[in-house]
Amino acid sequence: MKIIVGITGGIAAYKAPELVRLLKKAGHEVRCAATEHALEFVTRVTLETVSGAPLYSDLFASGRTEHISLKDWGEMLVVAPATANIIGKVASGIADDALSTLLLAFSGKPVVMAPAMNCEMWAHPAVQRNVETLKSWGIRMVGPAEGELACGVSGVGRMAEPQQIVDAIGEGGPLKLNGERWLVTAGPTYERIDSVRFIGNYSSGKMGFALAEALAGAGAEVELVTGPTSLNISTSQRVNVHRVESAREMYAAATEVFPRCHGAILSAAVADYRPAECADHKLKKNGSEGMTLELVQNPDILATLGGMKREGQTLVGFALETDNEEANAQRKLEKKNLDYIVLNSLRDKGAGFGVDTNKVYIIGRDGSRTESPLLSKQEVARLIINTVTS
Ligand code: CTP
Repeated sequence: MKIIVGITGGIAAYKAPELVRLLKKAGHEVRCAATEHALEFVTRVTLETVSGAPLYSDLFASGRTEHISLKDWGEMLVVAPATANIIGKVASGIADDALSTLLLAFSGKPVVMAPAMNCEMWAHPAVQRNVETLKSWGIRMVGPAEGELACGVSGVGRMAEPQQIVDAIGEGGPLKLNGERWLVTAGPTYERIDSVRFIGNYSSGKMGFALAEALAGAGAEVELVTGPTSLNISTSQRVNVHRVESAREMYAAATEVFPRCHGAILSAAVADYRPAECADHKLKKNGSEGMTLELVQNPDILATLGGMKREGQTLVGFALETDNEEANAQRKLEKKNLDYIVLNSLRDKGAGFGVDTNKVYIIGRDGSRTESPLLSKQEVARLIINTVTS
């Protein structure tokens, strides 16, 4: 893989040449980009010698748009060490030097950061908020680790060791889905009662959006079919967003794209029923005490895709259960012809609708079973993708 190592101005920059050496040993092509402050800690000669390529550190030196040609060349950007400053700049969209400009241009491609700073700086709410922002865009963080820091204190803030960074790059399987197309469904569906009312549910779409971003981060083209949600895909150019409202619209969009996909992950909370009739005006109270709404069943998108599935396509469904969780999930897996089912148990705290975390059990048709701890939805998304594509 073609990897750009970005180096910023922290004492851990002295480990960057070792990271470059290990990446090259693992068979990657490496080029370096450094900030002005990084070059106070590690020299241009060292970085150019270990990488075997010219260093990119001056936005204006060549008079060309090198941040764009380097962005086109690189398949992954690893920032090690990543200071609080570079994390804050990317989170705010600031591009005032060579590396920060390259980082913004790299939008939509995989970025890994290995933060390193004093423990109080790491714990600062601004830094934590910025890190969460970057993670929500699909940027992966490796570390920081706990230990003795250069400033003499002990705490969380040490850069992960170069070998750990190399291992983390391998585990994430960046770009392993290059050339593949995946379908993701997300969010709730709204089923209209009349021109101003609908039946809906509390799904936020966060899990589906995290899946779409993680698939794009692994190199796939993504068709994201989402019900009503305020979420946006912020960085990835590889995600085609299809916004729909009802289960039937979601069905039409999903069945249209599925034949062109290598796989599909259906995380949407689709309404099982819709009103038999939708009034084209606002229904008035009719004077009586109660009102009866007749409901009819919606098409089951997941079961339909299970019936359409060709050899080589992977189909993943979700199950949200409150009791007999595993047995119910297993039954759905078989009935809908799935390869994997991701089980959310509403009994687990921090899992389910609206929250930023999730805890899942991924059950495979082959009898495999992967259980996650409570993780952010971004981390759960990566775990699901690693499991169903391995
Ligand atoms: N699903 C779908 N189309 C539907 C209903 C559900 O694609 N009309 C998908 C969901 O996206 C999810 C899985 O099916 O991946 C959930 O299965 P489902 O049988 O609907 O679960 P429940 O709604 O929990 O079903 P039940 O009421 O039978 O427990």
